[in-house]
Amino acid sequence: MAFTFFFRDLPALHAVRDYVIPEFRKNRYINVWDAGCAMGPEPYSVAIIFKEALGYYEFKRLQIYATDLDEESNEFGKILLEGTYPEETIKRIPKDILRKYFSPNNKPGYFKIADEIMHCVSFQKHDLRTLQPIRGYFCLIVCKNVLLHLSESERINVIRMYHKSLVYGGFFVTEQTQKMPKETEHLFKHMTPNVQIFQKR
Ligand SMILES: C[S@@+](CC[C@H](N)C(=O)[O-])C[C@H]1O[C@@H](n2cnc3c(N)ncnc32)[C@H](O)[C@@H]1O
Repeated sequence: MAFTFFFRDLPALHAVRDYVIPEFRKNRYINVWDAGCAMGPEPYSVAIIFKEALGYYEFKRLQIYATDLDEESNEFGKILLEGTYPEETIKRIPKDILRKYFSPNNKPGYFKIADEIMHCVSFQKHDLRTLQPIRGYFCLIVCKNVLLHLSESERINVIRMYHKSLVYGGFFVTEQTQKMPKETEHLFKHMTPNVQIFQKR
């Protein structure tokens, strides 16, 4: 099982709230790609951040495409689509958010995420090494704790693919320890030093 949990990186989620949402909230389509989503806590955390900031009709225009290699016999997609998670994965969620979007499940120690959050996330199997984007016109691509699994040249090619798949002014977010390779630096503007959030030039 891949290591992941809800609200894993609060500064990155706040950067999405502060940079991405103001830029794209009025868009007709707000498409987000969460690449290497594991069992879903990350795309669902992103969905909650959008839900908290957007109006009712704005939120209806959000679609999060969550993808993963899914080598563990469709386990990731299955868990993500059930939306039921053990208590240890939700410990970092701020209490007010937890009360709003999670309810205890029949299974003791498990919590179910709200339907309105589940409905804006879809899952598909995808290997980043193919360098084939699942679609284009993304406002945001989140790829955290995944690129470290690739070789340096694969990483550069994947970031080039992300650049092509974003709309002009779209954002790419990765983990704080993942540095932007010098080969792709010119393609993006780094928005703030404490989060690896980059805007497409
Ligand atoms: C540590 S988890 C990160 C999960 C989540 N992004 C987070 O930060 O909490 C890494 C995930 O990357 C996925 N992954 C690794 N190589 C991949 C590839 N070539 N294409 C797609 N997903 C990949 C793994 O299957 C795993 O689910």
